[in-house]
Amino acid sequence: METVLETKGLVKRFGGLIATNKVNFELKEGEVKGLIGPNGAGKTTFYNLITGVYRPDSGKVFFMGEDITGMPPDKICRKGLVRTYQITSIFPNLTIFENVRLAAQLGYGKRISFTKGIFSFKKVVNKVNEILAMIGLTGYRNYSAKEISQGDQRLLEVAIALASNPKVLLLDEPTAGLSANETLHLVNVIGKLFEDSVVRNIVLVEHDIEVVLDLAHSICVLNYGEVVKDGPTQEVCNDPRVQEVYLAGGKVSAAES
Ligand SMILES: Nc1ncnc2c1ncn2[C@@H]1O[C@H](COP(=O)(O)OP(=O)(O)OP(=O)(O)O)[C@@H](O)[C@H]1O
Ligand SMILES: [Mg+2]
Repeated sequence: METVLETKGLVKRFGGLIATNKVNFELKEGEVKGLIGPNGAGKTTFYNLITGVYRPDSGKVFFMGEDITGMPPDKICRKGLVRTYQITSIFPNLTIFENVRLAAQLGYGKRISFTKGIFSFKKVVNKVNEILAMIGLTGYRNYSAKEISQGDQRLLEVAIALASNPKVLLLDEPTAGLSANETLHLVNVIGKLFEDSVVRNIVLVEHDIEVVLDLAHSICVLNYGEVVKDGPTQEVCNDPRVQEVYLAGGKVSAAES
């Protein structure tokens, strides 16, 4: 199987703290990989390193075989390595449609020709409508983003990410703060995006282990910035070191947020 995303010996220090410690990570084509670990384990920092928000102190990031270490975030996003954020990041006063349209226009940014303006605009509108239908937000397209439920806002963030044509989608705690029903719905939508081949490569940072077990083929466990274990989902869950990190009555359970 082809490797789509890989890091080698990735290190990031904040003063005396090592947030990312020699992380080797690999995502294969067609894989959903959970990235788990307690609060402060370095999960978001890892995303910041691979998406160009932070420059690693050492180590390399490869995307589709290309060394993307130190590239600016917008360039990495346009290559198809696309993320959502731990803290909801949408334009609250814009409509659902406008939120996704802005992201889609950025995606087309370099290719939009002024002489073919209307044609390009139609293409963008069609694409946004398609994404809203896939995510199940068509009925809310003219609502402002602040009016919809938290669950739908999380879906909107996924829609915004899809507008950038992700080859790899990086999700950072997509179910944080959601009710059980909203969580279930989001898991179903993400699962369907994968099954329908809308996006075939997903990394999922998630505290809710049930969500990870539902979606992920493999799991990478971080603790104090280091990879504790990486492998197929069941194997990782049965590993005593993982049980230690997630110590909760002898079985893997969700970490407290
Ligand atoms: N910009 C920063 N400056 C200084 N320290 C930072 C910075 N960003 C993260 N850290 C520290 O790096 C460590 C890893 O943080 P990170 O946010 O990556 O953890 P996380 O695994 O995403 O945690 P959580 O599950 O709470 O989201 C923490 O100790 C955090 O305080
Ligand atoms: Mg985080």
